[in-house]
Amino acid sequence: MASVSLESVSKNFGTHTVIQGVDLEINDGEFVVFVGPSGCGKSTLLRIVAGLVAASKGAVKIGGDDVTDVPASKRGVAFVFQSYALYPHMSVARNIGFALETLGMAKDAISQKVSTVARMLKVDHLMERRPRELSGGQRQRVAIGRALVRQPEIFLFDEPLSNLDSDLRMEMRMEIAKLHDVLKTTMIYVTHDQSEAMTLADRIVVLNHGRIEQVGTPQQLYHTPDNRFVAGFIGSPRMNFLAVSPQTGANAGRIAGPGNLSMAMVASNPTGPIAEIGVRPEGLRLVSEADGRIACTLERVEDLGHEHFGYCRITEDTVWVVRLASAPSSDQIGKTVGLDFADSAVFAFAGDGKRVLLKGAPEAGAEAREP
Ligand SMILES: Nc1ncnc2c1ncn2[C@@H]1O[C@H](COP(=O)(O)OP(=O)(O)OP(=O)(O)O)[C@@H](O)[C@H]1O
Ligand SMILES: [Mg+2]
Repeated sequence: MASVSLESVSKNFGTHTVIQGVDLEINDGEFVVFVGPSGCGKSTLLRIVAGLVAASKGAVKIGGDDVTDVPASKRGVAFVFQSYALYPHMSVARNIGFALETLGMAKDAISQKVSTVARMLKVDHLMERRPRELSGGQRQRVAIGRALVRQPEIFLFDEPLSNLDSDLRMEMRMEIAKLHDVLKTTMIYVTHDQSEAMTLADRIVVLNHGRIEQVGTPQQLYHTPDNRFVAGFIGSPRMNFLAVSPQTGANAGRIAGPGNLSMAMVASNPTGPIAEIGVRPEGLRLVSEADGRIACTLERVEDLGHEHFGYCRITEDTVWVVRLASAPSSDQIGKTVGLDFADSAVFAFAGDGKRVLLKGAPEAGAEAREP
């Protein structure tokens, strides 16, 4: 087990800067997830930790030692990729043990280690099969087994579950979480799926354009996002946003927006003025137009059985999603309705995307801020 530090790490490919001055401390035994949109630099950053890509600037430390110039094979890391890259002509057992073979380990010792790992990953009944005779989930278990058998100090996963169907993904996600509980090895896991990040991570690193937007526990990122990007990225369905403008004169201290929105809202930090508000689908209630804070048209309802999502058009290009515990009556569809929400459910953002803290609003999840 080992800690990982990245110190002012940057990476250019030619003139293209893909990682921009990343500083990050990962604790020994921690499960950290890198999340962010496609192309934001997640894989590149993970490969820099692994030593598969050299940083253009900055330093990488593992267990306190500077490994910036140490090759991948000497860093004590094991990598699991999205594509399993198993050896097609080798049995499951040999695939798992192959790294130990190349190290020259004795056959008996290899076979013992391979059996232990195979039992742990529930592929011990498949030891003589070839990869083509396995399901996607079984192949991914073998790929994890191959990493596990080397007893690395650090596990690196790059979207290991994205080739699996959603049931298998959920199952493997649980297996990986259990593996971390048992091994307590430092793990860094890349995904673009925020729900995978929320369920697996001790801490999530949100990346965007090669920079860190925020680092925090899943709860911190959900309840106290630093900016609009994190607010919009974490949570599913995503947060609803609406452009608003601060009022002046007799209405100072209020904001106004489409759908007849007018509410008291005063910034408590000097980041303002408030340019946009956001409310999560689960923070909204569908009410009559007269009882709502925002007027809108209920265009469509999605019925998922245990929950419903209403799509409410506020302007030509703004639709808010509201999470409903039960189906609205069908005669409401196509009609003008209202959306209501508590003051504490409202997030506010300045024009540059930074979150504006609000006076009088309790800082939701503030207790989770303490490390
Ligand atoms: N070897 C390379 N040469 C040039 N550009 C590269 C190279 N590898 C990655 N890039 C570029 O660096 C940026 C970051 O790529 P990276 O693979 O790290 O993104 P990612 O966040 O993992 O995306 P995805 O979610 O699609 O896997 C992209 O713009 C990509 O085109
Ligand atoms: Mg990637």
